[in-house]
Amino acid sequence: MTHPGTDTRSLSDLTTPCLLLDLQRMRKNIDRLASHMASLSGTLRPHVKTNKCIQVTQEIIAAGQVNGITVSTLQEAEYFFAHGCSDILYAVGIVPAKLPAVADLTRRGCHLKIVLDSVEIAEAVVADAEKRQVTHRVMIELDSDGHRSGVRFDDDRLLDIARIIADSPDCELVGVMTHAGESYHCRDAQSLLALARQERDTSIAAAERIRAAGIACPVVSIGSTPTALAIDHLNGVTEVRAGVYVFFDLVMAGIGVCDTSEIALSVLVSVSGHQKERNLTITDGGWMALSRDRGTRGQAVDYGYGAVLDSESRPVEDLVVSGASQEHGMISRRASVSPLPYEQLPLGGLLRILPNHACATAAQFDEFVVVDDNNRVIDRWSRTRGW
Ligand SMILES: Cc1ncc(COP(=O)(O)O)c(C=O)c1O
Repeated sequence: MTHPGTDTRSLSDLTTPCLLLDLQRMRKNIDRLASHMASLSGTLRPHVKTNKCIQVTQEIIAAGQVNGITVSTLQEAEYFFAHGCSDILYAVGIVPAKLPAVADLTRRGCHLKIVLDSVEIAEAVVADAEKRQVTHRVMIELDSDGHRSGVRFDDDRLLDIARIIADSPDCELVGVMTHAGESYHCRDAQSLLALARQERDTSIAAAERIRAAGIACPVVSIGSTPTALAIDHLNGVTEVRAGVYVFFDLVMAGIGVCDTSEIALSVLVSVSGHQKERNLTITDGGWMALSRDRGTRGQAVDYGYGAVLDSESRPVEDLVVSGASQEHGMISRRASVSPLPYEQLPLGGLLRILPNHACATAAQFDEFVVVDDNNRVIDRWSRTRGW
């Protein structure tokens, strides 16, 4: 939001807290993965839950190597379909109560794919497709690293699920998909490459088991930001999904896949108080703005709720947001007890906070305030929300 009647091109005209998007950094990040995919003859199906914004998604598509998008809610599917994206993977395990909305999108021409990992849900999807006389397109979710959901490539249930979907005249088995979420716990290039290969190779093995049983399994879909950037070949993989790479964040910097200077998102906050006896500075950016994500806890550098930059994106010594209540951020030193540089933190002054987790921080806001290299506001892009 801006104050009415003011010059909206300057950061000082913005109402804080707000979400800044550095356009040039974002474009470089987008190009980095697009180039990597091009060098491997790979195809991207970007996960747009990170950006939830058609303008950002159009930038990703313009950079090339893209076929379709991935979403995490049916609300995102509706939004992106309304903006012209019709090939959509809804990559969160489907539940029967959401099938009417899935059928509705499909009937309106959306090429929507859903994911599941159990015999029970597969049977419910088949029954629903028959009842509604609509084709449900299904991908089987694989567990490639013990991170979360999915069925293992060598589990007999993989073939049971594949058969249930393939035997239904009302369903289409599109393929298999996995997300190597354990990559967020990798700390070096070697372990990342090993996990990326495991994600790829177990997914291909799953598809081959299904094919060996006489069932078509055209699509092999893998991906997370760290593994997408690390993977060395994509033979046998038909698409790669990633979302955070567009912005990057402190967690990604901690894993080693980017530098903090490449992070394209920050939250602009105002300094509202000094607590010199406790060596603290207070801002208007609490967890409602930054989110409660503490993803850098456990990494070599723990940034608390975010790293502190000045309004021109230069780090302010070793300052971090060490505490956050709903609407207040508490700034202190990360690694020392020496007094804060209060002259760099004037009351009413602006600071930028780099996020731990881009998806979680961006989700607190309705829009991106797009800034150029000179920190001038050049646009505002709205984001979709909800489920
Ligand atoms: C199913 C799925 N695919 C792809 C991604 C994208 O990974 P990242 O957020 O590391 O870019 C996610 C992220 O959570 C995901 O859940």
